[in-house]
Amino acid sequence: MSRTTVTAAYDQLIAEGYLETRPGSRTRVAAGLRPEPAPAGAMVPPQRLSAFGERIMAMPPAAEPPKPAIDFRTGDLAGDDFPALAWRRALNAVLLRRPARLAYGDPRGLPGLRAALQAYLWRARGLSCGLDQIVVVNGSQQGIDLCARLLVDPGDRVAVEEPGYGAARRAFCAAGAAIVPVPVDDEGLRTGDLAAAGRARLAYVTPSHQFPLGGVLPAARRQALLAWAEGCGAMIVEDDYDGEYRFDMKPVEALLSLDRAGRVIYVGTVSKTLSPQLRLGYLVVPAGLSDAFAEAKRLADRQAPGLEQAALARLLEEGGYERHLRQARRRNAERRTALLGALAESFGTRVRVAGAAAGLHLVAWFEDVPAEREAAMAAAARAAGIGIYPVGPLYHEAGARPDRAGLVLGFASSAPDTIRAGIRRLAAALDAADIGRAPASVRTN
Ligand SMILES: Cc1ncc(COP(=O)(O)O)c(C=O)c1O
Repeated sequence: MSRTTVTAAYDQLIAEGYLETRPGSRTRVAAGLRPEPAPAGAMVPPQRLSAFGERIMAMPPAAEPPKPAIDFRTGDLAGDDFPALAWRRALNAVLLRRPARLAYGDPRGLPGLRAALQAYLWRARGLSCGLDQIVVVNGSQQGIDLCARLLVDPGDRVAVEEPGYGAARRAFCAAGAAIVPVPVDDEGLRTGDLAAAGRARLAYVTPSHQFPLGGVLPAARRQALLAWAEGCGAMIVEDDYDGEYRFDMKPVEALLSLDRAGRVIYVGTVSKTLSPQLRLGYLVVPAGLSDAFAEAKRLADRQAPGLEQAALARLLEEGGYERHLRQARRRNAERRTALLGALAESFGTRVRVAGAAAGLHLVAWFEDVPAEREAAMAAAARAAGIGIYPVGPLYHEAGARPDRAGLVLGFASSAPDTIRAGIRRLAAALDAADIGRAPASVRTN
């Protein structure tokens, strides 16, 4: 090796502090350096997590099993439904504006988007709110997480629907909340059981379309929920995740529009209307909490991505969002009809459908199949290339669940023909596994 290379290597090691030189003595390895790195696989002291980290790791992992050929997972949308052309036009228009400087903005989100959302919420949901009450977030999940961070201390009681949305429950668990499950029936949260929740700090609810059972909270229960919150000083997080999709019913008012006491935080998202991949949602928070939410959002990630916010604003302003929504409603109505028809054809009265009047999923209760068979049903279906999702894991307390098997079937991601084929294959797979088999006299084939 040439002297120059060696000298350069020495100089670099000296500059980085691995070697030290002293006048009059030889260059040597710097004092205090560990002579050798620990061999791979050697014992290393355990890395300590915060209490928050420990709580997260104590929860069962939110597994994402590989996607089967036909998947009834809730939350996914069909790729073809995304309004690619309109979105590209909106993005192009935004890019052409070329701002003078690329700067951080208001953590609540682009003023233009918040104004467009304000107008949309008034048009579509009859909601009236100030601009500063709207905080643009990276999907409902971040909105719910910010609620947990700002409003819940470890040990605080948080009322959740039983069964309910796992991702919200996990955010409150991670904050150290004492989860208080409140039962749900065909009309949503049983508000009469709220008293048992004691002095809760917060309640998380899906009043427009209960997740997963699909009930729509009647007016009297809405009033009771608000009165309960006022009575115990609790906040209510209203997750309006699929309020845009109504089939056999008129749109229902948001809980927020009945709230006179500043108890409700409204959570909206474009995950069901445009794409869950966009990670765009919004909160409407009481005016008194606006600054706290803005600061928490700034700390989390400064602000939602500007380009996508501006594109969404444009889509809302020029009517493309609602045009797309009309089309998405039509397509999803066709998928829903296909699913209902296929369930009736393959299972007849052995399956009772719940929660199909709104939203992008329904629950199929298998009246003759015991709850313990849900895992076997999912396994048999998966072996046949069908993804189905039992209702059991959505209960916080296993003992609270009904004794028959139930499946939460999302229908927004497949074509009607695929849905029909999927249900036929599901019926054949369950039959082959001897689960919920029709009595011979009723069997159709
Ligand atoms: C109850 C509920 N809330 C919210 C969402 C959407 O979450 P995000 O906006 O974080 O994508 C879903 C998605 O399936 C959901 O089921």
